[in-house]
Amino acid sequence: LTKPLLAALRGETPARIPVWLMRQAGRYLPEYRALRASSGGFLDLCYTPDLAAEITLQPVRRYGMDAAILFSDILVVPDALGCEVTFVEGLGPRLAPIGNAAAVGRLAPAGLHERLAPVYETVRRVAASLPPQTALIGFAGAPWTVAAYMVEGEGSKEFVQARRFARAERGAFARLIDLLTEATADYLLAQIHAGAEVVQLFDSWAGVLPEPERERWCLEPARRIVARVRAARPEVPVIVFPRGVGAAYARFAALLGAQGIGLDTTVCLEWARRELAGVCLQGNLDPVALLGPRDALLAEVRRIGGAMAGRPFVFNLGHGVLPETDPEAVAAVVEEVRALPVEAMRR
Ligand code: CP3
Repeated sequence: LTKPLLAALRGETPARIPVWLMRQAGRYLPEYRALRASSGGFLDLCYTPDLAAEITLQPVRRYGMDAAILFSDILVVPDALGCEVTFVEGLGPRLAPIGNAAAVGRLAPAGLHERLAPVYETVRRVAASLPPQTALIGFAGAPWTVAAYMVEGEGSKEFVQARRFARAERGAFARLIDLLTEATADYLLAQIHAGAEVVQLFDSWAGVLPEPERERWCLEPARRIVARVRAARPEVPVIVFPRGVGAAYARFAALLGAQGIGLDTTVCLEWARRELAGVCLQGNLDPVALLGPRDALLAEVRRIGGAMAGRPFVFNLGHGVLPETDPEAVAAVVEEVRALPVEAMRR
């Protein structure tokens, strides 16, 4: 029997609407916090296969999700390229910022797979211990989002330094994006080789770029990554999540060659249904709805399920689970998705 997530991404109508949540493993889960407290830093967790595999499986065990997403981070790629990353408690990631062309020249793609070998080992271990209906999702950050952290040196709301660098040092920034594009495709293919059945590309900061910049730094690299993955492993679906791109979602859906498109919380589902044909949609429950009253939360789940009825769809959030989320709210969402009428799916 085909796993529901894989069926939906192939454009079939699965026996049930598959559900998983971005950031389904993490700080809102007491079992994650317990492991985190007894380990070193966050990146140590990512590079320790038995712990990372255990954390990957925690939400699958607790909720019976239709997918396990590899426990790691998008910033392991810059880390593996020689741009050192640290996670400061309560502050988020810090990177040695890329300030000029010379710093781009010092990045070392040759060491990528050696440094990321523990991540591949995590994938192997999870693949070997998944329930039969659960699919394993590998992932990476998209080149623009990863480059934005590398230039900025930390998180940001607007990524002005990264946008300035892209305009002021166009050649150097293009080399950085090209290097990340190839490294990311290599990295995703290595995860697939280790047992990932689906891969997702997170372009969390695609929404800060104006159109011409977004085409060059988001759409083109993602298209190249999808093409490389599809050429080498045509059976593995790719989901792209270009958060915040608004009406440009139509260009991404039409031009990427991806099997799945992740919708952020702001996308109107009736619009998406009309304009994003021929691709499986994923999303887009507001993570903040999980912090609110239960009846309103469940009504939102039913609204989204109704709007996507009868077309290939994966139930998810429009961004990651927030750390302050009650684990019971996640259980209630999964239960409500499971209760969505299957007839409606076939409408
Ligand atoms: O979804 C999952 O459960 C799989 C694991 C996963 C993590 N990060 C674990 C994590 C995934 C898929 C990511 C993706 C990621 N990481 C993105 C893209 C998605 C998005 O949220 O927009 C981005 C931008 C990052 C970079 C990142 N990692 C930041 C900015 C931070 C600090 C802020 C925060 O949310 O904590 C992280 C840390 C991080 N990544 C944690 C986890 C569980 C928290 C680490 C801790 O325990 O302190």
